[in-house]
Parts: sequence; structure tokens; C-alpha cells
Amino acid sequence: MLGTPSRNNLNKIVVLNPKGGCGKSTLVTNLAAIYARSGATPAIMDYDPQGSTMAWLAKRPKNRPEIHGIAAYKNSMQATRSWQLRVPNNTATLIIDSPASLSHDDLRELTRDSTSILVPILPSALDIHAAARCIADLLLVAKVDRRERKLAVVANRTRKNTKSLAKLIQFLDSLGIPIVAVLRDSQTFVRAADEGVGICEMQPSRVKQDMEQLDKIISWLDAWPDRRRTSNAATAINRQPLSERSNLHRTQFGSA
Ligand SMILES: Nc1ncnc2c1ncn2[C@@H]1O[C@H](COP(=O)(O)OP(=O)(O)OP(=O)(O)O)[C@@H](O)[C@H]1O
Ligand SMILES: [Mg+2]
Repeated sequence: MLGTPSRNNLNKIVVLNPKGGCGKSTLVTNLAAIYARSGATPAIMDYDPQGSTMAWLAKRPKNRPEIHGIAAYKNSMQATRSWQLRVPNNTATLIIDSPASLSHDDLRELTRDSTSILVPILPSALDIHAAARCIADLLLVAKVDRRERKLAVVANRTRKNTKSLAKLIQFLDSLGIPIVAVLRDSQTFVRAADEGVGICEMQPSRVKQDMEQLDKIISWLDAWPDRRRTSNAATAINRQPLSERSNLHRTQFGSA
């Protein structure tokens, strides 16, 4: 079974969707490049045996801000699993790339203690169908509580105003899951992947529109402490006996 680190203040972002080619690795590398630019070295943990994000890291030019790579898909004979998966102590942000197929146990393990879960989805009927299953598994198998608001979708490789994008929006609205960004089908992502950089490291005038969307994702991700606090407060209130809850309500809002 897979194993992932757990640390109280670690921003653990999981990118998953069993549908191949939906943009998981693209999202992971581009988010990591943005976090790297902001100062602290982020880490990428790659669970996909294809090793796409580790291959991207190997291509990364030496003069770019550092990103720590953990090849979690490798089974080393020389090291214990926990040693192999260790995240440096000073890492604040860990971004996890996942493989196309995940067992239920692996899904639970990967999402445990995560601060955010991003599901990239291509807006086609087949992809929406597969995504529905993935989201159902997250809610029912991994027991992701929607009230924690840590699950969001990124619509990827979209073309403007298509019927399939409208369908995707309608489907997610019905589940109350936000689409935090809509990324265009753009060759800049392919070029960045080839060069071992994120699009934030390309000529700004060429990537302005795509960067606006990636910045939206970062804003949503960075709000994780607020989301966690609100969700913990709501859980604490729900756990109180009804009599205490109405007292709390009276002190907060005054009695009539
Ligand atoms: N917004 C985009 N515009 C254009 N090309 C894209 C975009 N997003 C991803 N791609 C390209 O689509 C292909 C698949 O993307 P990616 O490897 O990120 O998907 P994945 O979900 O990680 O796939 P796998 O399940 O095989 O790991 C890659 O060649 C990538 O460069
Ligand atoms: Mg991938």
C-alpha cells in the first residue's frame, strides 16, 4: 500500500483523477514552479510509475528555483519506505502526483491529512462520466467531508463556450464542488513540460491568461488554514449538546 507523510502544518496538496491524460502532472509541475518562485522550496511526491514529474524535474534547468523530488513509485531495496518518502523538515508545501489507477486503500492513504484535493477534468462526456466516479469515491470511500471544502476541480484543456464545459459546470454545481480554474488548451503547457519549467517561468506576455487561472488555484490552495479553521469550528458546534448550542447562539446573536 502507498504511504504518505503526515505533519500538522504541512500543506499537502493531492492532485488526482484516475482518467489518464487529464492534466495531473501538468498541474503538479506548474503549481510547484509557482511555489518555488515564492521562496521556500516545495516538494513533489510522484506516485505514478510513469515518473512524469520526476522526468520533468530531471530536465529542470539548474538556474531555476529548486523543487525537491520524491520518487514514491520506486520501491527501494536499500531504504525503508518511510526513509524513502521522507519530506525535508523545512518543506511547507508538498504536491502529490498520482497514478491513473488507485485502489481504495491507496485513495484513502493519499488523501489522509491532505489540505486540498484538486481533480483536473477534461470537459468531454467520457471524462465527465469518469470524473463522477472519481468524485463519488473521494466522498464515499476516502470519506472526504464536503463541509471541509478541500475538494475542487480544475477544468483543463477547455475551449470557450462549448456544450461540454457547460455540462461539466452544471454537474459540479449539482454536487456543490467548485471549479477553481479553467485552463485553456494551450501549447505553452506542452512547451513548459518539455523544458522542465512552469509556465510562470516563461515570457509573461505569452502566458498572461493561463497565469491568471493558475493564480486563482494558488489563492484557493493558500486559503487552506481558513477552510480548516471554519470546518473545525463547525464540527465543534455540532458536537455540543443541543442545550449548549442554543446558549451559544443566544450569546452570539442576543436573545429576542
Ligand atoms: N491545458 C493544456 N493545454 C495543452 N496541453 C495540455 C494541457 N494540459 C495538459 N496537456 C498535455 O496533455 C498531455 C497529458 O497531460 P498530463 O501528462 O499532465 O496528464 P496526466 O493526467 O498526468 O496523465 P497520466 O494519467 O498519464 O499521468 C501532456 O502531453 C500535456 O503536455
Ligand atoms: Mg501524469
